[in-house]
Amino acid sequence: MTPPQSKNFHTANPEAESAIDRSIPEFEAAKISDEDEYFQNHKPPSYLPEIEKEVQEFIEYHRKNTQKRIALVTSGGTTVPLENNTVRFIDNFSAGTRGATSAEYFLENGYAVIFLHREFSLLPYSRHYSHSTNCFLDFMTEKNDKIEINPKFADEMLKVLRKYNDAKESNSLILIPFTTVNQYLYTLKTVSECLHVMSSKALFYLAAAVSDFFIPQSRMPTHKIQSSATKDGELVIRLAQVPKFLSRLVENWAQGAMIISFKLETDNNILIKKATSALDRYHHQLVIGNLLQTRKKEVVFVKPNGDNDWIKLNEDEIKGNVEIESKMIPAVIKVHDEWIQSNSS
Ligand code: PMT
Repeated sequence: MTPPQSKNFHTANPEAESAIDRSIPEFEAAKISDEDEYFQNHKPPSYLPEIEKEVQEFIEYHRKNTQKRIALVTSGGTTVPLENNTVRFIDNFSAGTRGATSAEYFLENGYAVIFLHREFSLLPYSRHYSHSTNCFLDFMTEKNDKIEINPKFADEMLKVLRKYNDAKESNSLILIPFTTVNQYLYTLKTVSECLHVMSSKALFYLAAAVSDFFIPQSRMPTHKIQSSATKDGELVIRLAQVPKFLSRLVENWAQGAMIISFKLETDNNILIKKATSALDRYHHQLVIGNLLQTRKKEVVFVKPNGDNDWIKLNEDEIKGNVEIESKMIPAVIKVHDEWIQSNSS
């Protein structure tokens, strides 16, 4: 049995040989129509053909053998390198909890899952034991000079282990990593194009927190920025806007698929408005809105027909450690059922 994680490439290592290339034209801050220009002006990661092959084989396997629906779950935050030989980068808070947890519930509900995640962020199943607040050593105990699972946790661990083995044995989960925003965008495009054959049976669940600003390759310094090079002790960084790729996704790469984007805000008063304007702008099927402060307890499904359906955990559920994704994913699947239905007639 091979582990689902591909070990062939590591996205956290910068491609040092692709140092600054002055032949790349200056890339202006993006407008909605600038997506194509981005790909003309930025090099793809060198390992992309390997990913494409793995993903194509995964999709073909399920088309031929299982007829499962396939969910592409994006998860975790993208980095924005400040140097080509990257010492420093801009990052964001996302740990990948939403994506990793949701992936488990998709698998439980019979989906195959392509898990496009920030390398070293939380993964389905291992997330229960890998986070720094959930150290795996706390689940062990010593008995007669031997190490054992602490009986207090054994039943729960067995359940997780069985689900993990199920996902592996049924070849239902493939893990695809990214680190930088450039790697994320290229990989999203490639995977989406591979998923085209699935048409309405493909579901895009875009929970990753993608950087809105970045340094274009044309003006990225090759080496570590020297503190002596700053003016008056200040470092000024000029960032360009990352194009919003949702419109390309909806119109070209993933035509026919059901697309769900997320909207994260910190101000309750603008959440629904921002989610609704994303639907107006990109014409996709669902925006799931969440607030940074309450994202583990409540989310809102904002739909093109104007419905705003809240999903909330009640006090008992919070005390019982119920995961909100256990309520979200069945509700998402209901919307996906309707989408497949409306596309088959
Ligand atoms: O990982 P956790 O700690 O559990 O946190 C989960 C989460 C809060 C990050 C997650 O639930 C969430 O809300 N993710 C989306 C964050 C967000 O608001 O991103 P955005 O407003 O930058 O983008 C909105 C949508 O457009 C997203 O679905 C994003 O994938 C997509 N996008 C963003 C940028 C870009 N250049 N192109 C895009 O398509």
